[in-house]
Amino acid sequence: MLLLALLALLVAGGAFLASKHPASVKLRNRLAILRTSRNRIDGANSLIQRVQKDPSTPAALTKEEVIRTFATESWQSQAYSDWASIHLDTERIFPCIYATKGFKSDEHLFVFLDSDDLGDSRHIQAIASGLMHYLPRARALGPNTSLVVLTKYNNNTRTVEEYNVLFWKLLDGLARLDKVAWPADIPKDIDTERWAFSFNGEHVFAAVQTPAHQQRLSRHANSLTVAFQPKWVFDLLFSTDAKRESAKTKVRRLLSKYDTIPVSPLLANYGDEGTREFQQYFLMDENVPAPCPFKRLAADVDPSKA
Ligand SMILES: *[C@@H]1O[C@H](CO)[C@@H](O)[C@H](O)[C@H]1NC(C)=O
Ligand SMILES: *[C@@H]1O[C@H](CO)[C@@H](O)[C@H](O)[C@H]1NC(C)=O
Repeated sequence: MLLLALLALLVAGGAFLASKHPASVKLRNRLAILRTSRNRIDGANSLIQRVQKDPSTPAALTKEEVIRTFATESWQSQAYSDWASIHLDTERIFPCIYATKGFKSDEHLFVFLDSDDLGDSRHIQAIASGLMHYLPRARALGPNTSLVVLTKYNNNTRTVEEYNVLFWKLLDGLARLDKVAWPADIPKDIDTERWAFSFNGEHVFAAVQTPAHQQRLSRHANSLTVAFQPKWVFDLLFSTDAKRESAKTKVRRLLSKYDTIPVSPLLANYGDEGTREFQQYFLMDENVPAPCPFKRLAADVDPSKA
């Protein structure tokens, strides 16, 4: 309100303000300060709304856009620097070296959510928009690309179990918003060997990090984080058996140093006998499979998806 009043004054008293009168200089400075802090708060809070209203604002941001858009003290900037510092730590090497490589070579896009409630329809919409923006561009971004969803720090941390349920609400909500048919070669029953999350007609992997993880530190983050990778990222990485073995050995060796719990026995190649892709998205903090609350995604909404 104060800002609006001052702005009205600015319009009405243009001539006065244009003068060199000390009072007008003071008022101008005050307005500039107010405008700056106000812009920062707005910039920090309304990105998602702007993304939805203004088609020219990308639904997912490059590293450079993140740095340009958010003031250092904003929660977005905080979440981003936490994420960056985990991936760039040279003493404790983050096990997914491909994510780090992709980050360094600017292959990731970022989406920001103002809470860790992944079941919130606003957030599901923002991630759906982010994926629709990201997936068609992913190949051009590079072979180690990800869409990274960062959330506002929450002092009231939920439990690992609660985060798992919210994550599945997110996947179910995304399936409801998906405009493209589920890929014909991927079954719809989740608890099967060849099921995989798909969006926009593409097989997409997801990995969740939560503040509640205390042992599996590779799945820990100060604020909830979800990273999506198109399946072809892994296909390139694992294009020969030798490459697959070498990549897996490297990551496993790093995981066993990084985590205070043995590497999850659930990590496996997509489609291998007896494995479940869905169990790898959200790893619990113990070596037990996370429960999935759905048999199929969006089953009751779109008969073509059921
Ligand atoms: C992807 O990441 C891996 C692991 O760091 C690296 O060896 C590879 O060169 C990267 N690909 C490109 C094209 O940068
Ligand atoms: C989180 O909670 C603690 C203790 O209740 C408080 O001291 C701290 O300021 C809070 N931090 C944030 C970011 O809200």
